[in-house]
Amino acid sequence: MLNFDLCTPTEVFFGRGRENEVGGIIARRGYKKPLICYGGGSARRTGLLGRVEASLEAAGLEYAELGGTQANPTAEFASYTARFAREQGCDMLLAVGGGSVIDSAKMAAYCVETGWEPWDITMKRVKPAGRVGVGVILTIAATGSETSNSAVLTHEGLKRGFSSQLNRPDFAIMNPELTFSLPPYQTACGIVDILMHTMERYMCTNGDNELVDNISEGLCRAVISAGRRAMAEPEDYEARATLMYAGSLSHNGLTGAGRECGLWAHKLEHEMSGLDPKIAHGAGLAVVWPAYLRFFANRGAGQGRLLRYAVNIWNVEPDFEHPGRVIDAGIEATKAYFSSLGMPGTLAELGLDEKDIAVMADKCTSGGAVTYPSIVPMGRAEAEEIFRLCAG
Ligand code: NZQ
Ligand code: ZN
Repeated sequence: MLNFDLCTPTEVFFGRGRENEVGGIIARRGYKKPLICYGGGSARRTGLLGRVEASLEAAGLEYAELGGTQANPTAEFASYTARFAREQGCDMLLAVGGGSVIDSAKMAAYCVETGWEPWDITMKRVKPAGRVGVGVILTIAATGSETSNSAVLTHEGLKRGFSSQLNRPDFAIMNPELTFSLPPYQTACGIVDILMHTMERYMCTNGDNELVDNISEGLCRAVISAGRRAMAEPEDYEARATLMYAGSLSHNGLTGAGRECGLWAHKLEHEMSGLDPKIAHGAGLAVVWPAYLRFFANRGAGQGRLLRYAVNIWNVEPDFEHPGRVIDAGIEATKAYFSSLGMPGTLAELGLDEKDIAVMADKCTSGGAVTYPSIVPMGRAEAEEIFRLCAG
């Protein structure tokens, strides 16, 4: 097990009805006026915003509201959010939604008092030393942004993440019932994203971390099973609760602890949804991940990890005589599961084609200047090869 740092300070309030406590939670922390940030309107339509407003009023808090955060949020909207919060005299941002609303609020929070631009922070032109408060009411189990140290914005077709310990929200309210209203496609995208945050870290270059391997395999098996149940029965509370808690555990640092790993397939996906913001993050990942694994298998790389992945996560029968067959079966099981969720399997199904491949490979590696230390180091040529495997 390698040395690691881990600090997950976000206070989690998990379970039925917990959103009704938001006023008290904010007042106890000493904040006076939250800006409620939300997306395209699902939080209003489901009645959630009404309950949040009532709780804030009962706690004697003033508040302002700003809807309209887009999926795959833009730096421009985060900047507008910061200006609006400043004009309204807000001292914290309350994100009511999924990864997009949360990430936009996280980045805006650095800019309310400083007047900085969120994109300058993302591109590391300025380094924040503080922020106004950030709280979350989560409505989709997916990104883990509710406790993670990252936030992702898009600016002029470039989608980039910013990681910092300051990105971890002050608190996250997680009521699995709030996810009952999700369209099946979004539920499925979330399931893929949750799995990916653990599976990618599982494909590490040091295979000596038995504890974290076991945590990861257990998490993935629970998510695969809960995912099936939530797709079949959207109001299955236990399935939704498993997905929601797993979403946080998958991306709060737990499954990367002591491992030499990184989210390199995520880098490839971000080029897809950066190119076309209508592509949902989880849908892009569903296309990239089997191709990424196939790329290793074709090179005979990472065999030990791929075998363990197939047997311990996908229940493939071990076959010591024919390891290649076991690895292939693991990749096919992954594809079949994603497909059973209704996820796309090829670039064409995402609306991308041949001409996009070189563009994405260039952007992902800054024109070949960057090589990611994955099991096979991934530079421009390797990124292009993986994108070609995504073509089907
Ligand atoms: O905008 P509204 O109307 O709310 O609708 C949203 C949106 O259309 C809808 N939705 C959310 N909760 C709902 C609901 N509809 C009905 N009922 C509910 N309860 O779902 C759609 C997708 O929402 P979004 O927030 O975009 O989804 P997600 O949570 O998957 O976030 C994706 C964004 O997070 C980034 C992704 O790249 C993408 O930009 N990521 C953030 C990470 C982080 N900060 O740690 C890590 C991830 O790897 C990821 O990159
Ligand atoms: Zn993700």
